Amino acid sequence: MTSTIKQLKAKFDRAIIAAFGADFAGIDPMLVLASNPKFGDYQCNAAMSLTKQLKQPPRAIAAAIIENLEIGDICETPSIAGPGFINLTLKSVYLEGEVNAIAADPRLGITPVKTPQKVAIDFSSPNIAKEMHVGHLRSTIIGDCLARILEFKGHDVLRLNHVGDWGTQFGMLITYLREVYPQALTTADALDLGDLVDFYRQAKKRFDEDETFKEKSRQEVVRLQSGAEDTRRAWNLLCDQSRREFQVIYDLLDIKLTERGESFYNPLLPAVVEDLTSLGLLVEDNGAKCVFVEGFTNKDGEPLPLIVQKSDGGFNYATTDLAAFRYRIEKDGANRLIYVTDSGQANHFAQFFQVARKAGWIPENIEIVHVPFGLVLGEDGKKSKTRSGDTVRLRDLLDEAIVRSRADLEKRLQEEKREETEEFIANVAKVIGLSAVKYADLSQNRTSNYTFSYDKMLDLKGNTAPYLLYAYVRVKGIGRKGEIDFANLGVDAKVILKEDAELVLAKHLLQLSEVVGAVEGDLLPNRICQYLFELSQKFNQFFEQCPVLKSEEPLRTSRLVLCDLTARTLKLGLGLLGIGVLERM
Ligand code: ARG
Repeated sequence: MTSTIKQLKAKFDRAIIAAFGADFAGIDPMLVLASNPKFGDYQCNAAMSLTKQLKQPPRAIAAAIIENLEIGDICETPSIAGPGFINLTLKSVYLEGEVNAIAADPRLGITPVKTPQKVAIDFSSPNIAKEMHVGHLRSTIIGDCLARILEFKGHDVLRLNHVGDWGTQFGMLITYLREVYPQALTTADALDLGDLVDFYRQAKKRFDEDETFKEKSRQEVVRLQSGAEDTRRAWNLLCDQSRREFQVIYDLLDIKLTERGESFYNPLLPAVVEDLTSLGLLVEDNGAKCVFVEGFTNKDGEPLPLIVQKSDGGFNYATTDLAAFRYRIEKDGANRLIYVTDSGQANHFAQFFQVARKAGWIPENIEIVHVPFGLVLGEDGKKSKTRSGDTVRLRDLLDEAIVRSRADLEKRLQEEKREETEEFIANVAKVIGLSAVKYADLSQNRTSNYTFSYDKMLDLKGNTAPYLLYAYVRVKGIGRKGEIDFANLGVDAKVILKEDAELVLAKHLLQLSEVVGAVEGDLLPNRICQYLFELSQKFNQFFEQCPVLKSEEPLRTSRLVLCDLTARTLKLGLGLLGIGVLERM
């Protein structure tokens, strides 16, 4: 299916050529949704921008375009407004036809791309032996959502968990555990992540204070890198322990990831340095191997290099990223590489992208993007912390969301004098609680910071997951009340659009594919949230103004189709956000 705006664009292209000649082929008709519904549905702003070239007043240009425009099948007669805007109002019959067509399409008008890309999306990526924190939560939720959208569009998506499972932290940790708790290095399950994180803190302290300890830790890193058996075994155990803990979170949030940690690229690091050397890009600076690229300076304004090998021979985070990036292009065959991390790492990515570019490692048809996101703030406006000042544990945060959503639900059940089973309550509380957390994150423009508030995200009113879930439940409620089998409304179940609220809802339903297409490009999931929020509002207005079950045929069936299409759109859209729906709540 071709979206309305695409159909209109094609028609404007033709009209502009017909009016002004073939030189004007490919001119952007500047077609957008009307700024105010009072003026219609779409507007064309091209006349104003063509005045210079055509040396004609914009209203005359607009008139010439309209004269050559053949849009009678889609729009009412266009009108010219103000300096030369062309206003377009969609015809009801056209809308009816389009709505009927998407209603008959299981993909609701979202066509898969013709040339799928191989997309490597690097997200979540917590660090072994450290607690997963809210930053990783954002990366996990946003990354998963982007992966779902790209997958749905038909791309081949590689969901990569670039776990921090390598480096100096293991030297410290293993040295410390050898001293205080050697069993942990030989027996599975001897520690849980909480202990591990504590040990890590203590080890770090020793490392910073004690020279002999520091030296031992260094040797342990060398042993790890050279594959010493006992160190490797210890490392494996520690990784497994962390992995299990991460998995609890992934299971709760229904996240699928392929783990390919930093250690995976370890054998490929020397080649990165060699290749940069033979390209003449490496500069030795106090024994460290560096690449200098334009535009990166420290706070004193001095050029800031990307260090690929430290003076002690060790490699850096950036070296691994360079190796990983080459692997993803050469071995995975990726043509779009996406990295989802907090904006704090923007410089790291900009710098290593530029090094890669300078080295000629980014072929022309390959897109490489950092998808940054802002901080999660507590309600006091500060970086979110527990009362004792520690960073909040993710598991606690998610559990708390479920506990609170359960309390809300129980209160509501009491008010409505409803009796539900424990199974129902537990499931609804969990779905709402976790959806609320995901949705609160996704509904913000990811580049800004957002304030984490359980009360706001669980509110049944407002731009929240519960509000959208409730709109879905409402449709299901109509179905139960009228004993409607939505899947079999009959072959001639057709939409008829008469009332304003119906038209408004129908037009919105038709926007889905445009919105999803936009997110496929700019990777801003909040667009989908906003779309679904407005859909729920428009549906609720329709529901208040247009009786459904009590209407006469054929209106009754028409309205049932609109209800069903709304529910399917919500389900699909929420699904793209990684949120499941409830039949009742
Ligand atoms: N482990 C890193 C962190 O916790 C995130 C890794 C992001 N991915 C990457 N390829 N650098 O900050």
